[in-house]
Amino acid sequence: MYSTHPRPASFAARGPLCGTVKVPGDKSISHRSLMLSALAIGESRVTGLLEGEDVLATAAAMRAMGATIERTGEGEWRINGVGVGGLLQPQNALDMGNSGTSTRLLMGLVASHAITATFIGDASLSKRPMGRVIDPLSLTGAEFNASPGGRLPLMVRGMCPAVPIGYRLPVASAQVKSAVLLAGLNTPGITEVIEPVPTRDHSERMLAGFGADLMVETDADGVRHIRLVGEAELKPQTLEVPGDPSSAAFPIVAALITPGSEVTVTHVGMNPTRTGIYKMLETMGADLTYSNERVVGGEPVADITARHSALKGIEVPPEVAPSMIDEFPVFFVAASMAEGRTVTSGLDELRVKESDRLALMATGLKAIGATVEEREDGLVIDGTGGEPLEGGATIASALDHRIAMSFAVAGQHCYHAVTVDDVSPIATSFPTFEAMLAGLAGA
Ligand code: S3P
Repeated sequence: MYSTHPRPASFAARGPLCGTVKVPGDKSISHRSLMLSALAIGESRVTGLLEGEDVLATAAAMRAMGATIERTGEGEWRINGVGVGGLLQPQNALDMGNSGTSTRLLMGLVASHAITATFIGDASLSKRPMGRVIDPLSLTGAEFNASPGGRLPLMVRGMCPAVPIGYRLPVASAQVKSAVLLAGLNTPGITEVIEPVPTRDHSERMLAGFGADLMVETDADGVRHIRLVGEAELKPQTLEVPGDPSSAAFPIVAALITPGSEVTVTHVGMNPTRTGIYKMLETMGADLTYSNERVVGGEPVADITARHSALKGIEVPPEVAPSMIDEFPVFFVAASMAEGRTVTSGLDELRVKESDRLALMATGLKAIGATVEEREDGLVIDGTGGEPLEGGATIASALDHRIAMSFAVAGQHCYHAVTVDDVSPIATSFPTFEAMLAGLAGA
């Protein structure tokens, strides 16, 4: 399933980017739609599912634990669930590929079932910390045998019945929150997650949509308390997955930095826990307009039109980070072509994503001529004031889809083509990315 052969590609400026595109389904929502459908009793239908490698890894794992999951058309899937508590012992190790979300959320599910599962992944995933999930899940009675540093390969021995826990998140992470809540589904009593800094709330929305008894309260200090009543019975659903705002950020930034461009991305998820990138781009002076605003599958959705804009450097408040955590790589590209200085901080989490995104973006942007200072928890970038960057370098994507796509976008406004040493990781989240970019350039 996962390509082991690097596929290099070059990205050169080809004039204005124009047109209307639709990006694939939201990755976070796609994972969760498969997991919860696989735990409902009866048949669920999902449309607009992201058919990227990460989500296919979740589908394969849920099948290996007993669910029936079939593709019935483009982005259309039919799932027959086993019921909460009904997951079966997988016969082989679960191969999570590049996907941290699949790994951490499924560790939560396995933790409260009477099964044992081994998780393996690619070189990038095998470097990522799993201790943040092992810590709370160990409190429920589940047992873990991880590789040194709390990494993959690792084995989870579930505990059934598990002990309900109350857990205050030490790091702003929707994956950790979701792992604890998913473990709580098959746990007697009330599982509580205390979230001092809000993160994406797709799990809460979808759990409620599937009929779980879930309460969310925000206290006087702005801290969210999420309580889930365990031994839940989930009812099958028909779901439509909105377009991924993280994927939409690539054509939108490409249009903003490339003179003469006007690009519309339709059907983009506008959940406020995900739209920090658009707010920050607007603060920089981006010409973005929103139309056709509606609600799809319990999530706000809109069409976004981006026109080439004279961007100005800004200071990004650290509290905005969780709502644009995956968009910093492409945001740094926008900053490197803006007028003046952009300062970011509080971004330690970027060092433990699919790659060390602060280090890779700093190195890559400098290689194509940008002025960047790498700090421990952020980048400081002095932009070109709208002029193209030099380009002409080869960038290491290090098994990180968002690094690869960010430099493909940068190449749209460089004097010389930017080469990405391996674009195959793009298939984890945005299999149609290269064709979309070529289409917008009129190729
Ligand atoms: C995700 C949460 C984020 C994000 C990841 C997807 C999710 O990770 O970076 O791409 O679907 O819950 P963290 O929760 O670790 O910040």
